[in-house]
Formats: sequence, C-alpha cells, structure tokens
Amino acid sequence: MMTNRVYTLILLLVSSIGVSQTSLQVDVNNEISEISPTMYGIFFEDINFAADGGLYAELVKNRSFEFTLPKMGWIEPEYDRHSLNETSGSSTVIRYSGEKSNKRYLHIQINDDSNYELINEGFRGMGIKKDERYYFSFSAANVKGISALRIELFGNDRVIATSSVNLSKGGWKQYEVSFPAEFTSRKAKLRLKFVGSGSLDIDMISLFPEDTWKKRKRGLRKDIVEYLEAMNPGFIRFPGGCIVEGRTLEQRYQWKKTVGPIADRELLINRWNTEFDHRPTPDYYQSFGIGFYEYFQLSEDLGAEPLPILGCGMACQFNTAELVPMNDLDPYIQDALDLIEFANGSTNTYWGKLRSDMGHPEPFNMKYLGIGNEQWGPEYIKRFKAFNIAIKEKYPEIIIVSGSGPFPDGEYFEYGWEQMRNMNVELVDEHFYRSPEWFRSNSNRYDSYDREGPKVFAGEYAAHSVDSNNTNNWECALSEAAFMTGMERNADVVKMSSYAPLLAHLDAWQWKTNLIWFDNLSVFPTPSYYVQQLYANNSGTHALSIYQDGNVLNGQNGLYASAVKDINKGQLIIKLVNTSKDTQKISFNIQNARVKSNITRIDLIHGDLTAVNSAQNPLNITPNRYNENIDISKDSITLNAQSFTVLTFSLE
Ligand code: AHR
Repeated sequence: MMTNRVYTLILLLVSSIGVSQTSLQVDVNNEISEISPTMYGIFFEDINFAADGGLYAELVKNRSFEFTLPKMGWIEPEYDRHSLNETSGSSTVIRYSGEKSNKRYLHIQINDDSNYELINEGFRGMGIKKDERYYFSFSAANVKGISALRIELFGNDRVIATSSVNLSKGGWKQYEVSFPAEFTSRKAKLRLKFVGSGSLDIDMISLFPEDTWKKRKRGLRKDIVEYLEAMNPGFIRFPGGCIVEGRTLEQRYQWKKTVGPIADRELLINRWNTEFDHRPTPDYYQSFGIGFYEYFQLSEDLGAEPLPILGCGMACQFNTAELVPMNDLDPYIQDALDLIEFANGSTNTYWGKLRSDMGHPEPFNMKYLGIGNEQWGPEYIKRFKAFNIAIKEKYPEIIIVSGSGPFPDGEYFEYGWEQMRNMNVELVDEHFYRSPEWFRSNSNRYDSYDREGPKVFAGEYAAHSVDSNNTNNWECALSEAAFMTGMERNADVVKMSSYAPLLAHLDAWQWKTNLIWFDNLSVFPTPSYYVQQLYANNSGTHALSIYQDGNVLNGQNGLYASAVKDINKGQLIIKLVNTSKDTQKISFNIQNARVKSNITRIDLIHGDLTAVNSAQNPLNITPNRYNENIDISKDSITLNAQSFTVLTFSLE
C-alpha cells in the first residue's frame, strides 16, 4: 500500500505542470492583534467513557457497589442469588448505617472449601500490559475465618497476574498490594478468591496501573494525558458539556461532591447513560475519581488555564429544562463563589484549606469561570445576570464566560448575543457542530464581528461528516483547518477555542464525532486532532495580515491562509489549506522582514476525503515534517490537493 509520505512526494514531483499560481502578501510589521495564549484549548467532558473507563486509570467498574444495580459489573459464577439452597459462597449488598456518601458495601459469606469467586469485568474489560505493575487496594472489616484474599487477573484464556493479601480481624482497614503482570490483555478481568471459610465485609475494590501520569497513585492514564500534553493546550474547559447541567437538576454536576477523599465522593449516574436510545450505556456512572481538584491539577500540569463551567440553576434544556426559581438561586451562586475560594483562596479559608489538605496549598490561580453550558432564552439571561453581579462584586478579577446557546446562528443565538452585548460581558461561548461544507464557507465568520463587543470563546465545535457513520474523516479535519484560518486572522475577537468532544472509548461511545479515540490499551488520534495540534503548537504571538491582491484568502480556488509571527522565537508561521482537488502553487511577497532560507514545512494530507484514522490503521493521516531550503523571494511553494500545510520561517 502506498504510504502517505510516498503519496506526498509523488504529488510534489508531478506538480509543476498546468498548476495555478497564487501570490500572497504578508506584512510582518502589520500586526492585526496579539494572539491570546488561551487561543487553542481543550474541552473535556465525561462523555463516551472519557473519565471513568478512560482518562481516570481505575480498572474496576463499580468499585464501591454504588451503581443503581449494586452488583453491576460484578460476576459471581458459582452463586445463584435466587436459590434458597446453600451455596459454597454468597454475597449480600448492605447499606452503611447513618448518612454516608458511599452508601453500600458487600458482605461475603464463604462456606467450607468454597469455589466462590467475585469477578469484575472492568470498563469493557481491563487493559493490562506485560511487565507493568498494578496496584490493588480495598477496605475490609469483620473478617471471620478468612485468612487471605487471592487476586488474579485473567484474559485471553489464561491467568496473567496473581497476588494475595493476608486479612486481619477488626473494623474497617485499608489493604493494598502491588504486583506485575506476566502477559498483555486488552480485555482482562479481575478475579477475587477467598482463603478459608467464614465471612467478611468489603468495599472500594480498586485496581490501577502503577505507571500513571506523573506516577500519581490512583492517577490518570498516562498514554491519554500524553496526547493531551502534545496539544499544548492554552486552557482546559471542564467538566463539560451537558454533564454540567444534568438531565434533571438533581443530576447536575456539583463540584463540592467531587473533592475531598475519593471514597467519600458520591457517585452520580452519568447523564449520557440514558441519553441516546441507539447507544444505551447502563453501566455509565461518574465515580468522580477525577473531580475538580484533579481537573485543576491536570490544567496546572499541562500549563493550561483552568476553565471550570458551572450550572446556573437550569437542567439541560434538551431534556427536562427544570429551573431553579430565582428566589432559590443563592446556593447555586454560593457554589460559584466557593469554587473561586477553593481554587484561589488562602489556606485560612474553608475551601482554600480543603485544597491545601488535598495536597495543593498554593492557589491554582484560576482566572476564568463559565456560568451555564449551553443555555438559551430569557431564563438563562436572568440567572446569568444574578451570578455575574455576585461574582464580580466579590471577585472582579475573574473573567466570566457566558453562553449563546447550542447553535451558531438563529433566534436563540441572536437573542443571547444581544443580551450579552447589552451586559458588556467579557467572553461569549459559541457552539457549532456543522457539516464540513459549513466550516469551509464560514471561515469569514468572525471578519465582521464587532471589534468593541464581547470576545468569543468558540467553546465547542466539530465538523460532522454527512456519511452514514458520521466519521471523523479527512474532509472534516481539512474543513476545520480552513475555518481556523479565520479564527486566527480574527485573533482580536476570538480569544479561546476548543474542539468537542475530546475523548471516546471505541467500545463505549455515545456521541460522534470526537477528537481522540482510545481503547483499554491504545490511543487513536483523529486527523482533526492533528489539525488542533498543529494550530496550537504554531500559534505564534501576533496575527499578521496575509492577502491576495488586498483580499483575505477565504476559499478562492479552495485556498485558505493565515499568518502569525512569534516574537519569542523570531518566527513567521504561515498556515495554508488547499481544499481543492488540484495542486496549487503559492508565491510570497514578504514585506518588512527578511527570512532565512531554511524553513520547516509540515504537511497533513490525504488524497481521499473519506479517509480516517482507525484502530486498524491509526497512522493513516499524520503530519509529515520536512526541512527545506528555499529562496522565498523567488521560489514558490507547491501545495498538494486536499492538504493542510504549516510553513515556519526564521526571521533574520
Ligand atoms: O459535546 C457534546 C455535547 O454537545 C455537549 O455536552 C453539549 O454542550 C453539546 O450539545
């Protein structure tokens, strides 16, 4: 099969005949605007198993028996709970007495020489890697007659890791053990066996790889975070998405329930569990192993500004649209004020102390806060105003992000923007999930935005292909690249942007399309991921003008372009998108600067617009990087058909 690189080279070689030529003028002194360091960021939502079963490296599903069906995810092969006959072993779900956020535990009874075993199926299996160490922990109490717990991981019809833990009598105790795996399995399971006969109570049964991101105990999946790190994100928006709002108010995301000791974080059904009839996900819950502390920590790790989004007293308007009466809004507003204290407050404050107790005495320096995810209409405006006034009064330095509804145009959008303009807000979040064609023909979207009005946060966008599978194909990525030239050119208006959603488990998704796919062992970035990565890693510090005969390039001959200068690196960076089926030549007139002849060129290209990256062919569309010597005052650049190119020139 012809590789992408060979294909590119062949195109370059045969490209010189009958090719149209475009001449572009770039004025290195004509800075349109500074580019905000937050220009390209990440939108994280726990959708498609993005957190539990994904970024959060926990391998045991329903580790504390808190799902609606308390034994979901657990298998007891020898035990028939409907039978009245004595079995060799059994388990009973018990509620703790008193009010507890972790409400249940399992009582296990073992008779004689029992064959009883308790198996956890993981999140569509468990990804276990040969020679890596795994960290198993649980709590147990009231141990009678059982001397040890035997732990096995099995997959591909064999045992792939074993260990055991001796048990002791008394009240609740924590146990932990670490052991290596001898074999790799993508869909392993955990089996627990009990030595002796008697009984015990057990809870918080947990298994993590030791090799997590930054080797944090019970941390995040390293391979996934590495792909996020490579995006060089300017911010991380969390925790969503509709998940912020909840299908009902009761099911909304409440950040205070996601901080403090992990075992005390109250589980919540994931709203995507029941959202789509065609993708039922009955085993989708939020353990909040990744909670607000972990999101802030991840933002800090990646050098990204944290951007939490809070509910504003409105459940998802596509679902119940439940409202909190204005008279009862105070606790919701207080949640926002307390969050700022949690992130930034001194350790003498209640919430600042909790942050410190969790391991981070220094403030997280949160600067942005979003109020409402994707709300629309007058009820949103009323609630937003109340939040805005209260937050600005206490924390005038916090930049508040407001919404403009779920669509990029139409009645809700126009109304939302008008209201936000009247309030003179700082940033308005826009959402657009549209066809690739829409993205190509709307690259001029921001050219006509009011320069004096609120700034834009393009907070959720993705080109959705019109094929029956709604795949993240090359046409989507190329069209996003074309659109993004318009965002970059309008960096005085667009201050933040993020593709959405970010992550999806191949075996457990609800929503298409997504930026990064993964399974239990591997990560598969889409072509759109590479577009985001190339923009964010080549964002520069200042947007420059780039014209063809005095006009911006907005799709003439299928071409799009933007130019930036990086004053820290002394670079001129030009992004070129050729959406046409033809090879094209570009010559440059670079004004007010001299550039060196050795340039770096990165091409993202594929001849087939329907091509995708997949588990079978994950590297189908990936960037190719070359160093070239070129006298840009004389030589032209050849752009392949259907390509996205980033040229980096060193300024003399
Ligand atoms: O990104 C998926 C969903 O799309 C988000 O949860 C919501 O904000 C939007 O409708």
